Amino acid sequence: MTARKLIIAIDGPAGAGKSTVARHLATRFGLLNLETGAMYRAFARKAIEQGVNPDDAEALTALASSTAIELEPTSAGNRVLLDGQDVTATLRDKEVTQAASRVSVHPPIRNWMVSLQRAMGQHGGVVMEGRDIGTVVFPDADLKFFLDASPEARSHRRYLETPQAATHAALHEELRKRDERDRNRAESPLRPAPDAIVIDSTEMTLDEMLRAIEETVAARV
Ligand code: DC
Repeated sequence: MTARKLIIAIDGPAGAGKSTVARHLATRFGLLNLETGAMYRAFARKAIEQGVNPDDAEALTALASSTAIELEPTSAGNRVLLDGQDVTATLRDKEVTQAASRVSVHPPIRNWMVSLQRAMGQHGGVVMEGRDIGTVVFPDADLKFFLDASPEARSHRRYLETPQAATHAALHEELRKRDERDRNRAESPLRPAPDAIVIDSTEMTLDEMLRAIEETVAARV
């Protein structure tokens, strides 16, 4: 039997640098980069479009049964197909961001997403980014990183990325609410796997963080 190719899990709260790290590792080590948050966002977008309440688990479960979500990794990030249509450009809207955090608390929705994500990563050769990759989706991943930083540092980074979109205070408040929901939900709350390498980048530059992670991965491949 040939060994399964590498699976790298990258988890952590919003604004901790997961996407940047995942994209960098994918390019550096020739892996597919899969952004699982984009799947929750695509489903949230469909719920909004169809007028389904993001807190109504039963209605969401019915909606999920007639929804197809696919990720297509590209060098510039993931292309997201919702029922065959490219919705990538719309997934960062504030309304979608908030709804994604709400739809993701429901166990039937999480189970559905987890099974899609396992199918996508089962052959390895992937760096998968999300909140529950090392704890639930691939608990036997070869390498697990949990990226964190103080709420102030994370909202500041988001602000620098999108200064025209919101005030710093509004971004901070939105991030705080999402953090609270992600960390406190009953089903697979955001937390590091016991064997995850936890990196707090509050006092690090992006380059320092990338270098530290890259060295750890290089030692394994
Ligand atoms: O990573 P992101 O900001 O694009 O994720 C959007 C939302 O989806 C986030 O509020 C939490 C949820 N999410 C999740 O619950 N599990 C994942 N594996 C990925 C994202």
